[in-house]
Amino acid sequence: MRMRSEQKIQFVASILSADFANLGEDAQKAEAAGIDAIQVDVMDGSFVPVITFGAGVVKALRRCVNLFLDVHLMIVEPERHLSAFAEAGANRLLVHQETCVHLHRVLQLIRELGLEAGVSINPATPLTVLEEVLDLTDLIQIMTVNPGWGGQQLIESQLDKIDRLREMIERRGLEIPIAVDGGVDATTAPRLAEAGATVLISGSSMYNDRASVEDNLTALRESVAGVVWRGWERVRPA
Ligand code: DX5
Repeated sequence: MRMRSEQKIQFVASILSADFANLGEDAQKAEAAGIDAIQVDVMDGSFVPVITFGAGVVKALRRCVNLFLDVHLMIVEPERHLSAFAEAGANRLLVHQETCVHLHRVLQLIRELGLEAGVSINPATPLTVLEEVLDLTDLIQIMTVNPGWGGQQLIESQLDKIDRLREMIERRGLEIPIAVDGGVDATTAPRLAEAGATVLISGSSMYNDRASVEDNLTALRESVAGVVWRGWERVRPA
């Protein structure tokens, strides 16, 4: 079995729970705190009931931070908007399998634009939908809540799904990072990391009026400090 170097867990701030009147400042707070990336939750009011923002906000954020911008497209027909988000300065485009009739082609198009291509699947969507596109995927995001809102509780059944996805990736001899999005906080993060998630996306546990972004990120980091990957053997928390 191929051994992997130690896999660092990445922390991503979702701006869905940031102050929409001060998105640039809130993104800079996350950057100053040492976050690994910003996730921009694009919602169209059709795939999910809420409308948030479009490529113009990505363009504005690109001017504010030097961070990796991960754009989560919770929109129908994402193929119509790929170049706009690429031109706006996105680094990765995450499309939902549920919105892509031609997922294989959409992932090809994203890579042809020079961006990382990611696939996100909802809690009800089985892993089998990913089997034929793993070779075109730079990251897989498991929705651990039903998309549309921040501040929801983690859906427990997704922990086993993460474990099965990790096994699917291992069987193929691939090293695709698994991201989790929704209900990620200092309590759920260790369990998610143990299941195999290596990219933790958090909105309301990063941006809230209880503590600073820096303190929230520190708490999240400390919560998974004992969970690291060495090779494909999972090292449980000390
Ligand atoms: C759901 C969004 C949220 C957001 C994170 O559509 O994608 O999952 O990024 O929300 P929290 O961390 O507040 O659950």
